[in-house]
Amino acid sequence: MHVRNLSKENSILNRFISEIRDMDIQKDSMRFRRNIERIGEILGYEMSKTLRYRAKVVTTPLGNFDTYDFDNSIVLCSILRAGVPLHNGLLNYFDTAENAFISAYRHHKAHPENFEIVVEYLSCPDLSNKTLILADPMLATGQSMLATFEALQPFGVPKNIHLVSVIGAQEGVDFVSTKFPENTHLWIASIDDTLNDKGYIIPGLGDAGDLSFGKKLQK
Ligand code: URA
Repeated sequence: MHVRNLSKENSILNRFISEIRDMDIQKDSMRFRRNIERIGEILGYEMSKTLRYRAKVVTTPLGNFDTYDFDNSIVLCSILRAGVPLHNGLLNYFDTAENAFISAYRHHKAHPENFEIVVEYLSCPDLSNKTLILADPMLATGQSMLATFEALQPFGVPKNIHLVSVIGAQEGVDFVSTKFPENTHLWIASIDDTLNDKGYIIPGLGDAGDLSFGKKLQK
């Protein structure tokens, strides 16, 4: 897997990442969602450099302009609900993409550290020969990313796979590296060292879904 951790370079991206981690700034959920969206736009921009480009001519009111445009058919798949702001950011740039949504959540068993990923809802177009972007803001254990990929199998074999995440744990990055095809790309804004016993990224940012959309009742 090709891993590109964008926080390794100094850029404005690191300000957006520190704002989503900051407990005080997090209280403004509109800013939290917008920052995730901005991060999605930056990750999408970097990813766009690896697409396949073809020459094209654009006609202006005063003449012709020779340029290049990508011709990949993109399917953007996100995991509900935390993935929605990241999805929006990517869709702002890949505005002609088709879209897939999946609900995958952690079902905790007797011990908090034991959970299985339950997939309940999935809507997806045909994936055959397309460029699949799989977006999950928090790449903690990597189990949701894998469960999503497995659930997408009946929809066809994509030509390229790009995983997009905001914050990951090294363990989750290592896990997906062993489970996805070798030529998969991972575009990630920051990688932290550890997970706690509940599978949360440390220091991470907390619960991305709650911070975007409010606390949920645990059932
Ligand atoms: N999901 C989150 O929202 N946060 C984590 O740290 C891990 C998974």
